[in-house]
Amino acid sequence: MSKLWAGRACGDINEAAESFNASIKFDKRLIKEDVCGSVVHAMMLAKQGIISEEEGKTIVDALGGILDDVACGKLAVDETAEDVHTFVEQTLIARIGDVGKKLHTARSRNDQVALDMKLFARKAAEDVTQKLLSLVATLADKAEEYKGAVMSGYTHLQRAQPVTFGHHLAAYCYMFLRDADRLKDAKARLNLSPIGCAALAGTTFPTDRAYEAAQLGFDGVVENSMDGVSDRDYVVELSADLALIMTHLSRLSEEIVLWSSWEFKYIVLSDDFTTGSSIMPQKKNPDIAELARGKTGRVYGDLFSILTVLKSLPLAYNKDMQEDKEGFFDAVDTVSACLDVFVPMVNGIVALTDNMEKAAKQGYINATDLADYLAKKGVPFREAYKMVGEIVKEAVEKGVTLEEIPLSDYQKKSAAFEADLFDAIDLATCVNKRTSEGGTAVSSVEKQLSSIRAKIKSFEK
Ligand code: ARG
Repeated sequence: MSKLWAGRACGDINEAAESFNASIKFDKRLIKEDVCGSVVHAMMLAKQGIISEEEGKTIVDALGGILDDVACGKLAVDETAEDVHTFVEQTLIARIGDVGKKLHTARSRNDQVALDMKLFARKAAEDVTQKLLSLVATLADKAEEYKGAVMSGYTHLQRAQPVTFGHHLAAYCYMFLRDADRLKDAKARLNLSPIGCAALAGTTFPTDRAYEAAQLGFDGVVENSMDGVSDRDYVVELSADLALIMTHLSRLSEEIVLWSSWEFKYIVLSDDFTTGSSIMPQKKNPDIAELARGKTGRVYGDLFSILTVLKSLPLAYNKDMQEDKEGFFDAVDTVSACLDVFVPMVNGIVALTDNMEKAAKQGYINATDLADYLAKKGVPFREAYKMVGEIVKEAVEKGVTLEEIPLSDYQKKSAAFEADLFDAIDLATCVNKRTSEGGTAVSSVEKQLSSIRAKIKSFEK
């Protein structure tokens, strides 16, 4: 395909340089954004009398035809074109002749590519948000199902205090809701139109940028044309948001891997989300969770790549900026694929609640409650803490749980111990007395779940 820029530069570009320079292989996925932007640009040119109404209509109709033909497979993207913008414009000219040559009036590929990327980024943020919300809804349903399932909560991966599996899963709902919030914030900040910034300095044509912005669903226009063509902050911001989603997915993945191990045996994954081993017949591997954990590295890499590309770039457009695409597309695709597979996988999780409870009972995780019991009877907490520490030490040596120690032994330690201590250290009591806001009691978790569901709904508006 011939070059759009055969002006001053005339001789043919070196073949290796041409393919090195080209971006069509990856920016062809921006064809819809590119055509929509061009349609609005042609409408604006006609409205402003820069081209005639008839010319505008011819261009708009032909652009629509190009998009339809690509969508139905009648027109293949020509990969010898330099980039998607070249391909669309040259196809337009091939179809309607000289009128097509008027489309590029009062714009540049610099504002054109900035527009395409913003349209793509905005849509990606919306799509990923929807996927996040369905993961949150699925986690909330699981949390509801297991709001009474007592398990050990951990700190330092050591058994710490009793919680419920529902409480634990609800924590993830909040992480992913924050992610959705972050995408919403980033979307609001990026939603200003760069089209009309032209190459960098604006244009002498009487354009109407506000009209173009409104037609394309922007909240306004970028106020400085040099900023408009140079800004890729939104790629960085969204990549950071995507990286953090992966952090959260990989934390959940790690827990799924642990919980489904023989050592924990807390959950069973549905067979269709696990794989076997080619040699060990007993294996049921949590590959999906492991792979998501592994893919986290790619998305972090994508974030660092765009940060590094932008570092030290002088204003305004530089070809380096073409490197904004592959990493961002990869980050969006990776996160989308992970979320798509996590929703059904989480939905299929079955908790082995008896195992969870059994492990909880062996972990002295009600020791805090025993100390609290003494403190409520007037023993200063520091003393109570020390005394319970000794009791736990002796119990570990004897191989008994706190529930198995006879009352008479307790009373040898302190006269404050009475028969009601056994009720105080019963795991169900430990859980259900933690009614403080955000706590693990069934009633507290129910409140959290209704707040989570209200937050999901608030995104629908
Ligand atoms: N393919 C280029 C990119 O992705 C399009 C903009 C080209 N502009 C230019 N002045 N060469 O950044």
